[in-house]
Amino acid sequence: MNQSESPRSADGSTPDHDPRLFPRVTAYRFRRGTLRPGQQRNWEEHWPTYGRNVADEVIDPQAMFGRVAPLIVEIGSGTGTSTAAMAAEEPEVDVIAVEVYQPGLAQLLGMILREGLENVRMIRGDGVDVLTNMITPASLTGVRVFFPDPWPKARHHKRRLLQSGTFALISSRLRPGGVLHVATDHADYADWIAETGDAEPSLERLDATTGDGHVPFSLKRPVTKFEGKGLQEERAINEFLWRRRD
Ligand SMILES: C[S@@+](CC[C@H](N)C(=O)[O-])C[C@H]1O[C@@H](n2cnc3c(N)ncnc32)[C@H](O)[C@@H]1O
Repeated sequence: MNQSESPRSADGSTPDHDPRLFPRVTAYRFRRGTLRPGQQRNWEEHWPTYGRNVADEVIDPQAMFGRVAPLIVEIGSGTGTSTAAMAAEEPEVDVIAVEVYQPGLAQLLGMILREGLENVRMIRGDGVDVLTNMITPASLTGVRVFFPDPWPKARHHKRRLLQSGTFALISSRLRPGGVLHVATDHADYADWIAETGDAEPSLERLDATTGDGHVPFSLKRPVTKFEGKGLQEERAINEFLWRRRD
């Protein structure tokens, strides 16, 4: 069965066994992972409120969050540490975390519940699939991609999330003036990201520290467990900002 023939739940989303949630051709290091009993209980009770599976259905952010607010999509939110901390700091902004790794989403769900975060929702699926099929063009104030898998071997470079096609897709979902914020601790991937992002004609590079005064949301990232590991190994962190041209 291919993706387009996948069965759909009554609500139009992909059911939990759908191959679209476990794609065979992976653009990411796929880890299946299991949920702890408490996470499993939270998942069953609260996932339908805060999360949804990837689907061929364009989302309505106003219905999702119950308000109109600037919207940021974070691709590859991992365990959701930055997502939750940044959302708590910026209650006036809504955030959708997109991740394929279910235990990571379960951790973020736990933080949402514990901290009473009203401005975070989640979509389980491949970020490219989600942006293509669920996000309205020119609707996002921001896109965040923090520490995407570097795929260091040359023969695996085609698996990197940030390719020229993805930059074009991300840009198409940003509203004019919307900003893409990327961080990586991998030097070679950083060069690749800089070159590929700069080649996208609809994006203009901003100063990575100040955003040249053009960034309509906070750039302050907490150090995640993943990033902490890199810092211990003294890998430099490279940050990038691109703004969708008007
Ligand atoms: C190296 S981890 C970084 C996680 C987190 N951003 C952080 O800074 O701690 C990369 C994450 O991206 C997720 N990922 C990779 N490719 C993805 C894709 N195409 N769509 C959604 N998530 C993806 C992986 O499952 C993984 O959790």
